[in-house]
Amino acid sequence: MKVLVAGAAGQVGSEVVRLDAPDFSVAGLDRQDLDITKPDQVAHRLDALAPDILVNCAAYTAVDRAEDEPQLAYAANADAVGVLGEACAARRIGIIHLSTDYVFDGAKSASYAEDDAPNPLGVYGASKLAGEQALRTATDRCVILRVSWVFGRLGRGFVDTMLGLARDRRDLAVVDDQVGAPSPATAIAATVRAIAKTVVRGDDRWDTYHYSTTPALSWCAFAREIVRVGAQMGVLNTAPPIRAISTSEWPSKAVRPLNSRLDAAKLRRAFGLDTQSWQPSLREYIRSLR
Ligand SMILES: NC(=O)c1ccc[n+]([C@@H]2O[C@H](COP(=O)([O-])OP(=O)(O)OC[C@H]3O[C@@H](n4cnc5c(N)ncnc54)[C@H](OP(=O)(O)O)[C@@H]3O)[C@@H](O)[C@H]2O)c1
Repeated sequence: MKVLVAGAAGQVGSEVVRLDAPDFSVAGLDRQDLDITKPDQVAHRLDALAPDILVNCAAYTAVDRAEDEPQLAYAANADAVGVLGEACAARRIGIIHLSTDYVFDGAKSASYAEDDAPNPLGVYGASKLAGEQALRTATDRCVILRVSWVFGRLGRGFVDTMLGLARDRRDLAVVDDQVGAPSPATAIAATVRAIAKTVVRGDDRWDTYHYSTTPALSWCAFAREIVRVGAQMGVLNTAPPIRAISTSEWPSKAVRPLNSRLDAAKLRRAFGLDTQSWQPSLREYIRSLR
């Protein structure tokens, strides 16, 4: 199977590229080599590389900045995704596209199922939702995989931020009323591979799915765990205490959902996957920083 990854320099894209193997041959293109907002470049790359599956990990992911740059967010997250879908449909290429918990407003008390009504609170979520809709209109052969709270190797996510702050400060405060499940980029990549291997066999599982790990927790509880593991593994000298604060005490440009929990039962059923804990991946990641 030949797989082409767009957004190959990102947290998830770079992990999909690392899965390259004889039975899962991956070519990864970063923004320089494939800008998904350029239809001619998209067509050229798809013709030249002729993948069985395109994995779209490219996205405008700056949640707060998107409030000031809606045209850039929509160009990459919505318009370009529709164009990718059309280009793939014309060539009978399947597409696996990543989306987000931010398509929901977080008002539900339980985990979100795929058919719950989306209601994004900000530009980023709205642009990703528009991308989902454009993709479904463009092609039947698409899997949309909604993920949440991604962490990975690139050193710019929540885990690295917390470790950095814990090194520099004695007093930390983190939001305790936004709940979700951290998603290791490595585990998302492995899920993408499992999906690709199934759909490429001709199994008709093109649909929208939620990816999730266990246990769900608040950002504050996640931060405490990061710092605890960091200190245990010698990446931090001490584990400073972390104060729980509410979202209202941490104003940000974009409004974020309070409940980001996604129900992954449908994904597990469709692809025979087990629910995984994010904890071993966090330990592995922090160990890699030593
Ligand atoms: N990170 C999260 O917590 C999170 C949560 C839920 C869902 N998701 C979704 O998961 C997917 C992967 O996210 P991630 O965390 O891997 O994001 P990431 O690390 O920000 O990677 C996104 C990549 O896309 C590239 N990109 C941006 N615009 C592009 C364009 N026009 N053409 C080609 N490449 C472009 C970026 O390049 P530059 O660096 O040059 O901009 C970056 O390398 C995205 O669909 C995102 O919406 C992420």
